[in-house]
Amino acid sequence: MAFELIALPFDSAALEPAISARTLSYHHGKHHKAYIDKTNAAIEGTDLADADLETVIAKARGSNQGLFNNSAQSWNHGFYWYSLSPEAQQPSGDLAKKIDASFGSFDELKKKLAERGAGHFSNGWVWLAAKGDTLSIEETHDGDTLVDTGTLPLLTIDVWEHAYYLDHQNLRPDYLKQVIEGHINWAFAAENLARGTAWKYPA
Ligand SMILES: [Fe+2]
Repeated sequence: MAFELIALPFDSAALEPAISARTLSYHHGKHHKAYIDKTNAAIEGTDLADADLETVIAKARGSNQGLFNNSAQSWNHGFYWYSLSPEAQQPSGDLAKKIDASFGSFDELKKKLAERGAGHFSNGWVWLAAKGDTLSIEETHDGDTLVDTGTLPLLTIDVWEHAYYLDHQNLRPDYLKQVIEGHINWAFAAENLARGTAWKYPA
């Protein structure tokens, strides 16, 4: 079973000007696709050939860095596309309550998410995550992921330069501000929190 490049869950121009169709054509069509293709090539003919992506990531962590990087990046990018929304949203229900309990307010969460993303050194990911009833902001470096760690990922933002450089050049804080204010899929974060288990990359 080969993994597939999942379709973007929105029109490629729907996030402009925060993230342009041109950025997505490279980020989704070239970068994400390359991670998928390399994962498929690495597992072909091995005992992981029929495994789901989450199993491939967990088995590769600590034992096969190349496969780990490509499989985790395949998952992270799928999760990132679903973390984005064409329209501005507000968290509600249990997610909103837990945000207030963990960060003080929604505004404070947005501020901290922007600060952590801007301050992250070099390539990586900034996440909103849950452990029990507590929400936290997490960072992972390069291709690292939360999916197999026991910390539940609720949403992620890609802070690799390829995510923003065509649109914002070196101004990562501008990319983060526009995404956090206008393009986070809080409904997706709420679904992940309610399910209580990590999102699965579509088979
Ligand atoms: Fe990326």
